[in-house]
Amino acid sequence: MAYQWYPGHMTKAKRMMQEDVKLVDLVIELTDARAPQSGRNPDIDELGKNKSRVILLNKADMADERQNVSWEAYFRSKGLCAGAVNSRTGGGMKRILNFIMEACQEKLERDRKRGIQNRPVRAMVAGIPNVGKSTFINSFAGKACAKTGNKPGVTRGKQWIRLNKNVELLDTPGILWPKIDDPQVGQRLAALGSIRDEIIQAEDLALWVIRFLQKNYPGSLTVRYQIAEEMDAVFLLGEVAKVRGCLRTGGEPDYEKAAALLLDDFRSGRLGRVTLEQAPA
Ligand code: G4P
Repeated sequence: MAYQWYPGHMTKAKRMMQEDVKLVDLVIELTDARAPQSGRNPDIDELGKNKSRVILLNKADMADERQNVSWEAYFRSKGLCAGAVNSRTGGGMKRILNFIMEACQEKLERDRKRGIQNRPVRAMVAGIPNVGKSTFINSFAGKACAKTGNKPGVTRGKQWIRLNKNVELLDTPGILWPKIDDPQVGQRLAALGSIRDEIIQAEDLALWVIRFLQKNYPGSLTVRYQIAEEMDAVFLLGEVAKVRGCLRTGGEPDYEKAAALLLDDFRSGRLGRVTLEQAPA
């Protein structure tokens, strides 16, 4: 499978991120808990250099719970404050303020030594498209938040959301583009719907998902479609077509339709909680 990207978008997004990151003390990096490494862009290390960092495994409600724990531990072993969250319901949000304070400890200590007190930590959210940045900001900021408006001395038009007396959040997230040098990374992101649909071959992708589930989450296809799994992936996609009535005139399976249906089921969690890559030991 080949994946194409649009350098124009990337360059603009990167430039904006470069500008915004100058305004903050801390970068909250969102990644998809179902593919925590593939959904990151290594540029964040350069962009967030000299900044405190928190990494959040978003959509944790759709990922394998055991893998959430392993990935959290993995990132922590790399010295990053990390936690699994569900931005849709706000699960895990209470911990985030603690993470922010933990990640900014050195900065707060420096401020204190210089006699600077009560200067709130400024944070921004960053991540690849569709990872849940807007949902997170809305959920995290909550209803009680107050927009602080333009601040003198910073770029006009920037809005800061005051989370409490210690933390302010930039209301626009930084957009990072995924880095797809490895086809496996592309496949994972495509499976999650993080890559535009029109550049994906749905049938190939559905077959890849079927094979992944057969190997790593046996039983999930049987539970959803009541089909026996011990068959080859193409045959199974045909079975999905039959049980779901995706048929062409003449009764032949419509593989394309079945692939779209299966991918939709997978992306919305109807095939169970799945993580597409394991945390390194
Ligand atoms: P972005 O700003 O990073 O581009 O992402 P956005 O917040 O628009 O979220 C993309 C999709 O992911 C949305 O679904 C959103 O509801 C969903 N989402 C975000 N965080 C979570 C989470 O923690 N768990 C789950 N299960 N879903 C999450 P959508 O179907 O595109 O829109 P909507 O109909 O839900 O609004």
